[in-house]
Amino acid sequence: MTPSNEALANLLTEDRDFPPDPAFTEQANGTQELFAEADADRDAFWAKQARERITWSKDFDTVLDWSNAPFAQWFVGGELNAAYNCVDRHVEAGNGDRVAIHFVGEPGDTRDITYAELLTEVKKAANVLTSLGVNKGDRVAIYMPMLPETIVAMLACARIGAPHSVIFGGFSSDAIRSRVADADARVVITADGQNRRGKPAPLKAAVDEAVTGDSPVEHVLVVKRTGQDVAWDDQRDIWWDEALSKADAEHEAVPVDSEHPLFILYTSGTTGKPKGILHTTGGYLTQAAYTNSVVHDLHPESDVYWCTADVGWVTGHSYIVYGPMANGATQVMYEGTPDTPDQGRWWDIVQKYKVSILYTAPTAIRTYMKWGKEIPEKYDLTSLRLLGSVGEPINPEAWVWYREVIGGGKTPVVDTWWQTETGAIMISALPGVTTLKPGSAQAAIPGISVKVVDDAGQPVQKGQGGYLIIDQPWPSMLRGIWGDDERYKETYWSRWPDIYFAGDGAKLDDDGNIWVLGRVDDVMNVSGHRLSTTEIESSLVSHPKVAEAAVVGATDETTGQAVCAFVILRGDAQQEDGEDLVTELRNHVAKQISPIAKPRQVMIVAELPKTRSGKIMRRLLRDVAEHREVGDVTTLADSSVMDLIQQGMDDDK
Ligand code: WT7
Repeated sequence: MTPSNEALANLLTEDRDFPPDPAFTEQANGTQELFAEADADRDAFWAKQARERITWSKDFDTVLDWSNAPFAQWFVGGELNAAYNCVDRHVEAGNGDRVAIHFVGEPGDTRDITYAELLTEVKKAANVLTSLGVNKGDRVAIYMPMLPETIVAMLACARIGAPHSVIFGGFSSDAIRSRVADADARVVITADGQNRRGKPAPLKAAVDEAVTGDSPVEHVLVVKRTGQDVAWDDQRDIWWDEALSKADAEHEAVPVDSEHPLFILYTSGTTGKPKGILHTTGGYLTQAAYTNSVVHDLHPESDVYWCTADVGWVTGHSYIVYGPMANGATQVMYEGTPDTPDQGRWWDIVQKYKVSILYTAPTAIRTYMKWGKEIPEKYDLTSLRLLGSVGEPINPEAWVWYREVIGGGKTPVVDTWWQTETGAIMISALPGVTTLKPGSAQAAIPGISVKVVDDAGQPVQKGQGGYLIIDQPWPSMLRGIWGDDERYKETYWSRWPDIYFAGDGAKLDDDGNIWVLGRVDDVMNVSGHRLSTTEIESSLVSHPKVAEAAVVGATDETTGQAVCAFVILRGDAQQEDGEDLVTELRNHVAKQISPIAKPRQVMIVAELPKTRSGKIMRRLLRDVAEHREVGDVTTLADSSVMDLIQQGMDDDK
C-alpha cells in the first residue's frame, strides 16, 4: 500500500530553507567531495573511512563480501578491538588527560572522567569479567541507569570480545528474563538503584526477579549508586566496586575478527519473542565514527558533545559510546529526567559545560515547547553550534523552534533518520554542506544508497510517495536477528529481492529531499485517500495553540477510517473554551492539508501515552477512539496517562 500521490500533493508545503553559513562550512568535517568520492567507488570510500578512522591490529583484505546476501561481511580478514579504539589509542596518542565523560548525577553530584582514568576502569572491569569465566563470544547482559559504569561495562565486554546485550533500565523483570534467556547470558551487570525524579528507584530488584529459577545467569555484578537496601545472594551477587578494587589494572585488549559480534540489542514494541538485533565490530565502528564526525561535525579537541539518549537504546550505543568515543570526544552524560529539580535542568547543564553539540529527540523538543521558551531563555546557550534530532519525524514547527530558541537562530539542525537495525545514521543533512529544510531528513549521507519505491519496488518520481528502502549494503547494517536467520530474511529482505525494507513510508519532494512519513502501518485510509498520521500531527502542531499532537485512524462505517486527533495545548491556550478550539483546530487541518484530512474528532488531553523510548503509542489511542477496551499497556511509560484520556472521553460523551 503506497501512500497515494494525490493525497501527498496536498500535504506539507514547507518552503522555508536555510543555506549553510560559510563560517560553519569552513570548519565542517563533511564536504561536498565526499558525495562524489562515494559515488565513484563505494567500496573504496568505505575502505578509506575504515582505515583512516579505525585502528586495525590486522588490516582487512576484502572490503565487502555480499556473496551470501543478505548476510554481509565487511572488512573481511581485518582484526581490531572496539574498546582499544574507543579508549587506549587516545591515551597512547597523548590525550589521556582529556575528559571523556562529564557525568552529572540527578541529585547534583558530578564527576569528570579522563580517557586515562576510563582506560584503567575498563581494564579492571575486563579482568573482573574474565575472572567470572566470561570468555570471548560469551554474552553479558547490562541493566543499568545512565552512569559512567554503564559505559565501562560495555567497553569491558568489547575488550574481551564478549557481546553485550544492554537492556534499557525502564524494562520490567519479564523483559529482562526473556532477553537474558534468548542471548543465554551468564553474567548480568546492574546497579542497586537509580535516581529518578528526585528519588532513588530500585533496579537490582528486577534483576533478582528475572534470574531466579530457571536462568542461565551465574553472576550478578552490582554497581552501588543509590546505597538503598538490596536483597543479596552471596553465591551469585558481587559488588562491582569491591571486585574492581581487587582487579589487576593491566589488560591487553583482545583483537577480534571484523565480523565478531559486538552487541545484541533487542527492539522494543514488537509482540511475541523479542528481536535481538545483531551488530558486529569493524563495519559498525567505522560507520558510527564516520557519521559522528560528518553529521554531528564533532571536533574532539574543542567540542563538548551531549547526546541525551539513554545508553539502553541504539542511539546511546552508537552516539554515546562507540561513535564519539572512537573519535575521542568529550561528552556530557546526565543521569536523570529533564525536569528535576526544575524544567531548566538541561539548559543549566548546557550552560555549565558549554555544550557545543546537542543530539536529542523531537519528543523532548516538543516537551520543552510545551513548557515555554521562557525556560531555556534564562540560560546562556551560546556555546551550542550544532543541533541534531533523531527517533521520529520532527515537525517543521518543532524544528524551527529548536533552531530559534535553543540554537539562537544560527545553528544547523540535522534531522537524522536511522534504526536499531541500521546501526548508524543513514539519512541526514550534512551540516555546512546541505541547505536545510525543516521537517525533512533530506538525503542519504555519502556512502549510503536509499530510495523511495512503489509497490513494485520501482523508484518513485519526485513529488511522489512510497516506501523507504536501502538498496546497497552498508557497513553498520545488522548482521541478523540473534538465533533466527529466517526471521531476519523474512522481516527485512522478503518484499523485494536484495532490497532492505525499513518499514517506513516516505515521499520525495521536488528537490529530491526525503520526508519520512512514519511507519507504513501508521498510514491511514480515509474515503480511499491515503493520509499520514505524521502529516496531520505536523499540521496540528503548526497551530499556535498546540504543543503536541497524536493522530490515529479509527475504523469508521462510512469512510473506512476516520482521523482522530489527540492534542496537548500550549500553556496559555489551556484556559480557552474547548468546543470553539476544537472547531478551530479541525478547520486548521482542513485548510492546511485538505478537507479529507479534517479530524472527525479532536480530543484535548493533558498527556499522551508513550513508550519508555518516547514513541507515542498510537495503538492505545486507536483503542480509545474506537471505544474498545484499551489493550496491553505493559510498554507504556506511565500507565495513569491512559486513565486520564479515558476519563476525558467519558466526559465528552
Ligand atoms: C524508527 C526506528 C534511530 C535511533 C532511534 C530509533 C523512526 C527514526 C527518524 C527520523 C523520521 C525516524 C522510523 C524508524 N525514525 N529516526 N529522523 N525521522 N522517523 O530507533 O527504535 O529502531 O526506531 O524510528 O520510523 O524506522 P528505532
